[in-house]
Amino acid sequence: MRKILIANWKMNLSVSEGLTYLKALKKNANEVVIAAPFTFLNDLKKIARQKNIKLAAQNVSQFAEGAYTGEASAKMLKEAGCSYCLLGHSERRIYFQESDAQINQQIKNLLKYKITPIICVGETKQQRQKGLTKQVIKAQLKAALAGIKNVPLIIAYEPVWAISTFQTGKNIQSASLKDIIAAHNYIRSFVSGKTRVIYGGTVNPQNSKAILKLKQVDGALVGGASLKVSSFNAIIQNT
Ligand code: PGA
Repeated sequence: MRKILIANWKMNLSVSEGLTYLKALKKNANEVVIAAPFTFLNDLKKIARQKNIKLAAQNVSQFAEGAYTGEASAKMLKEAGCSYCLLGHSERRIYFQESDAQINQQIKNLLKYKITPIICVGETKQQRQKGLTKQVIKAQLKAALAGIKNVPLIIAYEPVWAISTFQTGKNIQSASLKDIIAAHNYIRSFVSGKTRVIYGGTVNPQNSKAILKLKQVDGALVGGASLKVSSFNAIIQNT
């Protein structure tokens, strides 16, 4: 099955590094998406189109337009060439206190411009230790998707404890295949058949093959291992 492989560059690289990266990006039958900083999008648009690579933003305003200093609207993202937009990434929830209600509004704004939302959900280490994984996923999905039905969406299961950002020390953890299957099956029980469910949380060239082989996994959201084109190419070619 065709998978979607998303590179989340976060706040890294420069426009010229991004252009060099895109030129070196290998493609196969899978869909490849680059989630780049706002200011890169217009510059990457042309080469992305030539190479059939899709662009994603990493965030969007909850407001449609107006006096909201520092924000970028769904309309602006459409103009900048975005097909997708990440929402509710744990870094945004934790560092910028983004709420599920805000994410609900962001989804509605994106859908008006036919930009597919990629909604990140997942439990923290403490929530996992308390056995709250399913409850957290359910609450996040219910609130984010209130009033939204039968539209194309992507849900990224990103257990916070497995994301490289929140891990200290050498012992980097990623979820086991069993954890991933259980969470993805659970997410699927809430969403329509049009929804793709992807995994993120330290996906790298070493573990990507086994994770992406799972029928429950429609793709991957890759952070740290997407910063070097050689490593993201290895994930693409592994799949
Ligand atoms: P990671 O990040 O692959 O570096 O763990 C994933 C993400 O934050 O989306």
